[in-house]
Amino acid sequence: PVLVVDFGAQYAQLIARRVRECALYSEVVPHTMSAEEMLAKNPAAIVLSGGPSSVYADGAPSLDVALLEAGVPVFGICYGFQAMAHALGGTVAHTGGREYGHTMATITHTDSILFDGQPAEQAVWMSHGDGVSEAPTGMTVCARTPGAPVAAFEDAERKLFGVQWHPEVLHSTHGQEVLRNFLLNGAGLKAEWTPANMAEELVAQVREQIGEGRAICGLSGGVDSSVAAAMVQKAIGDRLTCVFVDHGLLRAGEAEQVKEDFVAATGVDLVVVDASERFLEALAGQSDPETKRKIIGREFIRVFEQAARDIVGAESDSEHPVEFLVQGTLYPDVVESGGGTGAANIKSHHNVGGLPDDLQFKLVEPLRALFKDEVRQVGLELGVPDSIVWRQPFPGPGLGIRIIGEVTAERLEILRAADKIAREELTAAGLDRDIWQCPVVLLADVRSVGVQGDGRTYGHPIVLRPVSSEDAMTADWTRLPYDVLATISNRITNEVSDVNRVVLDVTSKPPGTIEWE
Ligand code: XMP
Repeated sequence: PVLVVDFGAQYAQLIARRVRECALYSEVVPHTMSAEEMLAKNPAAIVLSGGPSSVYADGAPSLDVALLEAGVPVFGICYGFQAMAHALGGTVAHTGGREYGHTMATITHTDSILFDGQPAEQAVWMSHGDGVSEAPTGMTVCARTPGAPVAAFEDAERKLFGVQWHPEVLHSTHGQEVLRNFLLNGAGLKAEWTPANMAEELVAQVREQIGEGRAICGLSGGVDSSVAAAMVQKAIGDRLTCVFVDHGLLRAGEAEQVKEDFVAATGVDLVVVDASERFLEALAGQSDPETKRKIIGREFIRVFEQAARDIVGAESDSEHPVEFLVQGTLYPDVVESGGGTGAANIKSHHNVGGLPDDLQFKLVEPLRALFKDEVRQVGLELGVPDSIVWRQPFPGPGLGIRIIGEVTAERLEILRAADKIAREELTAAGLDRDIWQCPVVLLADVRSVGVQGDGRTYGHPIVLRPVSSEDAMTADWTRLPYDVLATISNRITNEVSDVNRVVLDVTSKPPGTIEWE
């Protein structure tokens, strides 16, 4: 792999993505990992990320020079660039030229590998207080900016490269080309991490892990669990059983979509458990968001465990009992749970990851090396239908957290009808891929006065929450065309009884979250 060493900034994951966009496999490792361990991973190249520190600060993450002397190509970015300069005997100083944000870089070395094929002046995005004032011996200085006389250097022979700015952010107009030049020309790597190769390799890994064993998979109908199931199915065929828990909080047509589209495309063995009554009973009288989330999470696990026991029971006298559990865990989840410190618990996200230890399954997580967009590509490669691969995110607790107030069967029906209309109209307007998702929320405890026909109404508002986002960590409200909003509003107020008002949520995240609960 190409290792991205995380020096503690938020950029490491983004760098890993950018490396993968060059069709090379990359992994993020913490800077606390020893050089020996990193080298034991047999890295094809190493990228040192930016970080918040000054190399002279107390407790500043250090760079083991052994990493630079192992013959592995290295590319330092921002803090990584300075750490590299420092480790190789250059000088890092408070240059006085603090630069934050946009600036212009001038390429000063015409035969540079990093800047080959690029204009001599390019916009770059900076964030540094210190700077390299003297490059280490043997390094050719390739660029400067108004605040940094040594803004990039390279040594083609030792395959060591670095830039002071952040090539991974889009504000650096030629950043991706700089990174690609390092990987393909500086390090001499071949771009081979394509969706077809990824799929093939991962299927082979699953086959090896499970051997002759049997597996079960909790299928939600979402992209991740569907692609994971398709992959395992490809690897072990009918030794995989999928369990779909219908908690009664699904949108219209959802259970059918999983049954028809997914099973038709993959031929997977599917067990559907209808647990809607159980969930409704458990949710009765509850209106606190966290309580609702916890109840839904708990019930889900119980139902799933029971279904798993039933399957295990049914298989127990066969030669190979079910011993593997398939999960659609993605790379960001892995990195986050490995390195997340001090992250506030904003909401208790429900997923199968909360399964108790005593379930005693071995986990199969075939997507744990992938980002969402890669999962989609692999899914298409595996023949998962478009309707599932391009689905927008939908929260595990479903409509249960989109009814503000107590969840009841009647309220679910109202929300389901309104949500169906909103989705139909967004699809008809061709907007599905322009928005990240559009929660439709029922303010069940709010009533307002309206007039319909000749009479007064006293109904509930429906909230439309269309958002644009890259990863759901931050989001902005989507400026949907007025005519589309008008059609949705007209249809909902006309067709859904008890709803006499439709409002638009114009809040970004932060300060709002995407879901209302
Ligand atoms: P928030 O509301 O935290 O949502 O801004 C971020 C993204 O996560 C989805 N979401 C969930 N997904 N289980 C899930 O699988 C959950 O409990 C859950 N809660 C929120 C939400 O739809 C959005 O895409």
